[in-house]
Amino acid sequence: MKTSMRTDYCGALRPADTGRTVSVCGWVQGRRDLGGLLFVDLRDRTGLVQCVFNAAGDAAVFRQAEALRNEYVVCVTGTLSHRDPETVNPQLPTGQVEVRAASVRVFAAAKTPPFEIEDETDVNEALRLKHRYLDLRRPALQRNLILRHKAAQVTRRFFDQEGFLEIETPLLTKSTPEGARDYLVPSRVHPGAFYALPQSPQQYKQLLMLAGCDRYVQLARCFRDEDLRADRQPDFTQIDMEMSFVDIDDIFDVNERYIVALFKELLGVDIPRPFLRLPYREAMRRFGSDKPDLRFGHELRDITDIVKGSSYKVFSGAAATGGVHLLNMNGYADKFPRRDIDGLTDWIKNYRVGGLAWIRLIGGERVTSFGKFMTEDEMAAILKRADAQDGDVLFIVGDAKEDRALQALGALRLECARRLNLIRRDDFKFLWVTEFPLFEYSEEEKRFTSSHHPFTAPMDEDLPLLDEGRLGEVRSKAYDMVLSGTELSSGSIRIFDSATQAKMFSLLGFSDEQIEARFGHLISAFQYGVPPHGGMAFGFDRIVMLMVGADSIRDVIAFPKVQTAAELMMESPASVDTKQLQDLHIKLDVREQKAEVKG
Ligand code: AMO
Repeated sequence: MKTSMRTDYCGALRPADTGRTVSVCGWVQGRRDLGGLLFVDLRDRTGLVQCVFNAAGDAAVFRQAEALRNEYVVCVTGTLSHRDPETVNPQLPTGQVEVRAASVRVFAAAKTPPFEIEDETDVNEALRLKHRYLDLRRPALQRNLILRHKAAQVTRRFFDQEGFLEIETPLLTKSTPEGARDYLVPSRVHPGAFYALPQSPQQYKQLLMLAGCDRYVQLARCFRDEDLRADRQPDFTQIDMEMSFVDIDDIFDVNERYIVALFKELLGVDIPRPFLRLPYREAMRRFGSDKPDLRFGHELRDITDIVKGSSYKVFSGAAATGGVHLLNMNGYADKFPRRDIDGLTDWIKNYRVGGLAWIRLIGGERVTSFGKFMTEDEMAAILKRADAQDGDVLFIVGDAKEDRALQALGALRLECARRLNLIRRDDFKFLWVTEFPLFEYSEEEKRFTSSHHPFTAPMDEDLPLLDEGRLGEVRSKAYDMVLSGTELSSGSIRIFDSATQAKMFSLLGFSDEQIEARFGHLISAFQYGVPPHGGMAFGFDRIVMLMVGADSIRDVIAFPKVQTAAELMMESPASVDTKQLQDLHIKLDVREQKAEVKG
């Protein structure tokens, strides 16, 4: 990577290079003055190298070196030499060598940065994001960006070799119903009309199948105005793919092989195939989650049948319409003293369940929160169902809505594993969750909505349920790929006849006018010959986050947004000139004229 200024990268120099005259360019990481010797650590994107200035050499060069401060941008030229044995640093890849400096050229001085450029940092994230260009100098973030780049290259190469075409779809498009709010862009030419930024290229990729493209892939930027979390950004990247003349097995095959190739090439990790497949209901029943973390055991057990006749109304009441389930944290009774269980009882209320019942088996004794309400037979049956032994702690949640009890217990399973340190970051457990419900009932809107999106095909055997109006029971050909408790990708086999598609829209409560206005193009396109097709989209940021072991996708995005959807460095979003608004035919109706962007 030579340039007219540089012969080598700092981090690339090795003992084999000694004896050469080298020029290295970068930022001053630190400076130690040992009287007649001055050590300067120089950093570039590949790492650090030590440069040594000797007072016995050129006095002017030594004075220049004395004036260097952290983050100055310089070029040091000198002879690459072995370090003296006592100064060898085995922690550093360049720790056996140093540049004995003959000259230094200062390109730019630097103000003292608001925080140290170091991997280990407890500096608040808002300050780091405000100066993201400095934050990105930290080697950990540089490594993340490099891995992200490599992952994109492997992705493109893999899908190319599999016959996929990379096709770009528009960013200025029309509102699509994918669940989140759209980001809108006003049109100047069409007063009062708006483009929407795509939540995903869903409709375009289906239309590309109709166009005969057969296999499509895109590293697609997507935009969603939704609440932010550690694994969600308003603008993010999908690896979006679609294939024609396929069923579920074809989609699973190519995407499993992609994941295996990616993890092997970038991390040297062998991911076993085929991935486990769990129908949604089974995932909920066994793990209390549609994205189960399989890195640890402690599966849930259903005790609804045991407690449905119990005189303990909390359980029998829940069992009547919902369910009662149990989590055995086998062997950890001593790690959950009474005080901690009381804390968990409060914590679990966040999941909108009434409370937490528990049994601790410790030192041959049984202590429970509900023993006095149960017969000895019922208690024995519960313990048997749980395979309980001395040293175990059991948690039980019942709710009139079964999924609510399961979700609460699923969250508790994760929380216990976190507290007990049962989860290893470098353990990658993949699975497919299949047979998602086609619809979900929205309490807020008092109607059924699509669980995935309205283009998802129902399972063939459940088609009669559609006509019978039993919408809540219809399973779909939708699937997620889950990695260690995170939804990595989502997709489905699509509806490919226009009559079923039109029926779906009407079951979802769209009026004929709405169907025509929003999906008219799709329905009319579907009349010209649609191949059976399906696909899915990975969250690219999420893949990279899990590969590098980061806690948030913000750590793998160069310029991410914070909780309030603001980007703190450029300070976007921002107000615009009145003239710009006039051009766009927009009059504002906000109390504070000047928008203020806060973290
Ligand atoms: P879905 O909406 O499930 O499906 O999104 C697919 C994947 O994209 C990632 N993802 C996100 N990543 C970061 N920030 C976000 N705000 C965000 N939202 C989603 C997740 C998710 O699994 N068109 C369909 C795909 C299809 O059916 O082919 C779609 O977009 O990893």
